[in-house]
Amino acid sequence: MTPSDLDALFSRRHSCRAFRPDPVPRAVIQEIIATARRAPSWCNAQPWQVTVTSGADTDRFRTALQQEASSGTPQPDLEWPTRYAGVYQERRRTCGWQLYEAVGVEKGDRAGSARQMMENFALFGAPHCAIVSSPADLGPYGAMDCGGFVTAFTIAAEAQGIASIAQAAVASYGPFLHDHLDIPKDRLILCGISFGHADTDHPANSFRTERAAVSDIIDWRGTA
Ligand SMILES: Cc1cc2nc3c(=O)[nH]c(=O)nc-3n(C[C@H](O)[C@H](O)[C@H](O)COP(=O)(O)O)c2cc1C
Repeated sequence: MTPSDLDALFSRRHSCRAFRPDPVPRAVIQEIIATARRAPSWCNAQPWQVTVTSGADTDRFRTALQQEASSGTPQPDLEWPTRYAGVYQERRRTCGWQLYEAVGVEKGDRAGSARQMMENFALFGAPHCAIVSSPADLGPYGAMDCGGFVTAFTIAAEAQGIASIAQAAVASYGPFLHDHLDIPKDRLILCGISFGHADTDHPANSFRTERAAVSDIIDWRGTA
């Protein structure tokens, strides 16, 4: 694989927000995870574990999560950001408006935006969700390592032609998730990754987010 092949793979991946129901073969899911586990981690701790739902278990999870989201109070294991300001706020708004424009939710349409938000808890119709957790003892560094794993998972999935989306929204209801999925309390539930085959005709999949220029990212010190 050349650097430009790798760049093309990264560029092709995008967050999928409408899936077809057909399942991904277990062997393919295992291959994705076999590749993603190559992600680096501090002390090679490999803190990630994934609880992967399939078939009726995905549907039971989806239904229970939707119920929890309609009635429960968010209680994520990992604290949400305290605020998005400046350029971070702008980028957040831009990708939100891109999604709303794609699915036909107009500015000020609160019911429409709430409906679209709720699609998170329907897992965007995905046949599978991988819930990512890390030992609580490893704190933010465990979460950092798992972030690398999440990216590796999404790229490895893309290489297999499988669409995916990382979802902090899925991790919003910590106590419910620990209970429903039987995930021990000494692990932090960080996010879900819904995955499957993309519904490429769905308007939610019709837009692509932008990236800052390389020059906005690098703060050079010295000359090469
Ligand atoms: C850790 C993490 C959590 C995310 N949580 C959500 C989420 O809850 N709902 C959602 O629609 N997108 C979520 N996303 C997807 C981002 O919005 C998306 O990655 C970003 O806008 C860039 O777009 P792209 O993935 O299509 O390149 C999340 C992404 C990451 C990495």
